[in-house]
Amino acid sequence: MRYLTFALGKGRLAKEAMNRLEKIGISCEEMKDKDSRKLIFVNEELKLKFFLSKGPDVPTYVEYGAADIGVVGRDTILEEGRNIYEVLDLGFGKCRMCVCGPESAKDLLLHHEQIRVATKYPKIARTYFDNKKHQTAEIIKLNGSIELAPIVGLSDVIVDIVETGSTLRENGLSVLEEVCPLSARMVVNPVSMKMEQQRIAKIIEALRALPDEVK
Ligand code: PRP
Repeated sequence: MRYLTFALGKGRLAKEAMNRLEKIGISCEEMKDKDSRKLIFVNEELKLKFFLSKGPDVPTYVEYGAADIGVVGRDTILEEGRNIYEVLDLGFGKCRMCVCGPESAKDLLLHHEQIRVATKYPKIARTYFDNKKHQTAEIIKLNGSIELAPIVGLSDVIVDIVETGSTLRENGLSVLEEVCPLSARMVVNPVSMKMEQQRIAKIIEALRALPDEVK
């Protein structure tokens, strides 16, 4: 039997994913060592491998078949636009992609005026303003702390992830429009889906059958 390989977004995503997998009988002891700097882990008995990568790289590993299965946020899937199958909403990591800014920017959105948008997600922002709002937008790519942009006058609004809303509140900004809901998803390489159909389907079905309270 060949190894089935999982690519997991490093951090909370990987931790939550392993929690869910453990509930369906898939575990990896050597992954539990918190001090370890190891990036790849094996479960010999089940012939499974797990590796940790930066979230935005997960769809890349899965598209190229370096991993059969990936666990990643829907934000990353949309932004990366890779050739992969999204097979399951894992139900954790729930948050929203939103257009946010000062209340004064509401009019710009309402009247579809030219607008400057700062974001870590240029593709999602471009698609939203071009295809959904039909509004001319200048998209400025940033790498983090996006909330700064409208405060210091770099942009009118931002497109960013909102979870609890506290970052916005503490910086005098608010949600102006919702782009889409987000959560962690399981993705699969299209060839693996055919070649390892039985093993992969069994995992998907077991995760899907978990009761809501453990999701
Ligand atoms: C994310 C996001 C917001 C914040 C939202 O940033 O970009 O800034 O979390 O969470 P909240 O609604 O619960 O306040 P992250 O902490 O990942 O860091 P970043 O700013 O470097 O992207």
